Amino acid sequence: MARRKKIYEGKAKILYEGPEPGTLVQYFKDDATAFNAQKKEVVDGKGVLNNRLSEFFMTGLNNIGVPTHFIKRLNMREQLVRSCEIIPLEVVVRNVAAGSLSKRLGIEEGTVLTRPIVEYYYKDDKLGDPMVTEEHIAAFGWASQQDMDDILSLALRVNDFMSGVMMAVGIRLVDFKIEIGRLYDGDYQRLIVADEISPDSCRLWDAESGQKLDKDVFRRDLGDLADAYTEVARRLGVMPKNSQPITKPTLIN
Ligand code: C5P
Repeated sequence: MARRKKIYEGKAKILYEGPEPGTLVQYFKDDATAFNAQKKEVVDGKGVLNNRLSEFFMTGLNNIGVPTHFIKRLNMREQLVRSCEIIPLEVVVRNVAAGSLSKRLGIEEGTVLTRPIVEYYYKDDKLGDPMVTEEHIAAFGWASQQDMDDILSLALRVNDFMSGVMMAVGIRLVDFKIEIGRLYDGDYQRLIVADEISPDSCRLWDAESGQKLDKDVFRRDLGDLADAYTEVARRLGVMPKNSQPITKPTLIN
């Protein structure tokens, strides 16, 4: 059997050369890491859940005209995606104060923000992904002003979509991170949502109880991470094969 060409290996995913030019195969690992990989664990089934969940969110975004890299899911752990040039920024959108925002500014976790806050972090593990402003992004040429306008618009559209989808199943979208890629088409470039959207990259709280259903379960040792992600998948009706079917309301005549 021919060995596939590995293009890139990250903390939670591997990218292989795709079957056609301009495509890649994105493989979801079970590895969970936090605090710039200082905390590490293998969480059985996490890759399968994130593959399914990212497929679900990216397909929804594609369907409402928000372009993403997602083409199709190939199997339990892999999806076919468009190859793009990743802009070296982590784009974070926050609806509720939590995590580094609460820590940095002393704002109590759970404080509802009066408007979504969009932040940019420079993707560099060695530097610990430092926060940057549009000034840095322009000065160092990471993205143009037009790119920044498009990135902001994409980030807010993803926020509106994700907030609605999650609220419909009783989950609050507290914050999330996305990555943006450049896709070249002749003389033109288009920006698309890339990487993944999953409970690894979002904060998700049960709307009633406030229970955390995201990677904070792992970061803060709050319980079983796979159980939390399975609950998100169950509510969204996105279940890996062999798991219990969700019970839907039944019409009684
Ligand atoms: O840690 P912080 O509060 O800045 O994280 C904001 C959001 O971005 C969280 O949902 C977190 O899961 C996500 N994030 C991420 N990858 C990083 C940093 C943050 O997915 N490297």
